[in-house]
Amino acid sequence: MSIELPPDFAQWLALREPADVAARSTDLVDTLRVALPDRRPVVVHDLGAGTGSLGRWLAPLLPGAQHWILYDQDPDLLARARAGMPAVAADGAPVTVETRVGDLTRLTNTDLTDAALVTASALLDMLTAVELDRLVTVCAEAGCPTLFLVSVTGTVRLTPADPLDDEIAAAFNAHQRRSVGGRRLLGPDAVEACAAAFARYGLDVHLRPSPWVLGSDQAALAGEWFTGWLDAAREQCPDLTDRTGGYERRRRAEAETGRLGVIVDHVDLLALHR
Ligand SMILES: C[S@@+](CC[C@H](N)C(=O)[O-])C[C@H]1O[C@@H](n2cnc3c(N)ncnc32)[C@H](O)[C@@H]1O
Repeated sequence: MSIELPPDFAQWLALREPADVAARSTDLVDTLRVALPDRRPVVVHDLGAGTGSLGRWLAPLLPGAQHWILYDQDPDLLARARAGMPAVAADGAPVTVETRVGDLTRLTNTDLTDAALVTASALLDMLTAVELDRLVTVCAEAGCPTLFLVSVTGTVRLTPADPLDDEIAAAFNAHQRRSVGGRRLLGPDAVEACAAAFARYGLDVHLRPSPWVLGSDQAALAGEWFTGWLDAAREQCPDLTDRTGGYERRRRAEAETGRLGVIVDHVDLLALHR
């Protein structure tokens, strides 16, 4: 199974990287550091690594020698990720990297036998319920911490508020839960389902809010996000197209004059064995 990505996907990942960095919970990383096994190198499996945003952020926050294994379906994204990985950890110890092209929903226990940490960022909403359950099973059986960051919750807050905001948000969320090629995506329901699945395995699940807070200093990302949000909502509910022309013009004018504020809620999740 492969997910269709837009041609400019790497650009989107570059645009969102600073917002993800600002959003991710360093508090959970503090908890993680204590829970990591003593053995070195720390072998980190980064699922859906894209262009490597997560490794660029997390590797320098962890101490000791690390070996990162980056998974993605897209070899071009992985080539960029490999090229951009930091060479050293927080304490100057070496960081090495390998990449694995393929379908991460097919991951098995054998793939994770050496894992000290399984991690991902902005991935869970792209999975189905069955794929997520399977992934949680494999992670739980690996016996190491799992850190899944920046998962969307479906809640967005725009300022100034507009009566159409909620209707568009509902249509967008329905679009995120759509079936693609017979796969019904979890979208904003994924992180809650993930927490419940880890809890069923008896793991302690730590959750932290990790919202994007986009003001005038993040106007480019806010603009791209808004376009994607509105387009998806209109695709889901075509009658919105006729009714949101004025709304779109108002919002774009607010964005251009630095008056648009956007908060896109996300959640970070750390699952630890007791
Ligand atoms: C939203 S991007 C996030 C990338 C990166 N983690 C980041 O935070 O910038 C999700 C990535 O997961 C990959 N992906 C999604 N489903 C996958 C699957 N089933 N197998 C392999 N890669 C997958 C996509 O190719 C994409 O690069």
